Amino acid sequence: MDFETRAIHDGQEPDPTTGAVIVPIYQTSTYIQEEVGRHKGYDYSRSGNPTRTALETCLASLENAGFGFAFASGMAATTTLMHLVSPGDRVVSVNDVYGGTYRLFSKVYEPKGYVFDFRSTEEMSTRLGEALDERTRLVWVESPTNPLLNVVDIRAAAEAAHSVGAICVVDNTFATPYLQRPLDLGADVVIHSTTKYLGGHSDVVGGFAATNDPTIADRLAFLQKSLGGIPGPFDSWLVLRGLKTLSVRMREHCANARRIAEFLEAHPAVERVRYPGLVSHPAHDLAAAQMDDFGGMMSFEVAGSQQDALEVLRSTSVWQLGESLGGVESLIEHPGLMTHASTAESPFPVPDNLIRLSVGIESADDLIADLEQALTRVAEPSRSG
Ligand SMILES: Cc1ncc(COP(=O)(O)O)c(C=O)c1O
Repeated sequence: MDFETRAIHDGQEPDPTTGAVIVPIYQTSTYIQEEVGRHKGYDYSRSGNPTRTALETCLASLENAGFGFAFASGMAATTTLMHLVSPGDRVVSVNDVYGGTYRLFSKVYEPKGYVFDFRSTEEMSTRLGEALDERTRLVWVESPTNPLLNVVDIRAAAEAAHSVGAICVVDNTFATPYLQRPLDLGADVVIHSTTKYLGGHSDVVGGFAATNDPTIADRLAFLQKSLGGIPGPFDSWLVLRGLKTLSVRMREHCANARRIAEFLEAHPAVERVRYPGLVSHPAHDLAAAQMDDFGGMMSFEVAGSQQDALEVLRSTSVWQLGESLGGVESLIEHPGLMTHASTAESPFPVPDNLIRLSVGIESADDLIADLEQALTRVAEPSRSG
């Protein structure tokens, strides 16, 4: 079946008791057993819950995965995956990674003896083999990256990881399975912050991991129940509801983003636009090859200072200042001071005139008009000076 059909129906049979067309919120912690060990497949909601199962089945299907696991947040998914490796093991990660992931790796796991090596997207795509050795157990990819919208060649990274017996994990939060399916490109595990496009309405925090490898799946099932970073039934239900409209929302996000990227690229107050859909993007061809469209995220450098960037943030009204992304409403933020403040001390801080946009599905004309008036205000002093 096609993606749109699976998003609405997979894992979501009408309720056998009532015929309810929507999966109920099974707000229960435990399940009555007929006798010891004899039950209907559920014994305790940390191990499994029917609402969560529906989400896991549906989202695994969208990622073309045999096994899916939902978590309380994207970071809970990442933390659980990090339990696939041990202190002393080496993890090679793309350096332009979500700030919270960098913080988890460098401030939580590195002090415990895990070894991290951060490489550029270009190195990850073209010569990752040089960075890998027999101690490397995990290759961590994000593509497109947050916040610089760099693109990693997922197939090449997975092949390099496999050549030393490491597993390749891809954070697919920006693209979503509607635009990119990393397991089809050779990755072993795909993860998400479902907080973003999958939930889609900025009303839930959640995470997800999926794989086709039965050994990894067994371990993740064990880790999910042992570590306990699971989402509650209502949060699972909200993400499941979000999935139903993922394809229509993503088409709008992509169409709006394309227009906004073109507008920004032509604007004199903008130094550089980072959007994989633009022909000027250094990895445009790679993005076109491994993605079906280019998504709703972009960032740009204002032609000016950090103060100019902050002035833009102060001047918009349809674009609301806020962290997070992937909701129907457009958000604007300053990665250096907000989402990626934790990379300030790293060898790869983000530019201080960088603005990140999460393009929503409002009218593109309204979004462009709002950016236009905000950019004109900052452009004027520097043009006259
Ligand atoms: C690419 C990416 N991965 C992971 C996360 C972490 O997800 P969560 O905030 O749901 O824990 C985020 C959050 O912004 C993200 O942007």
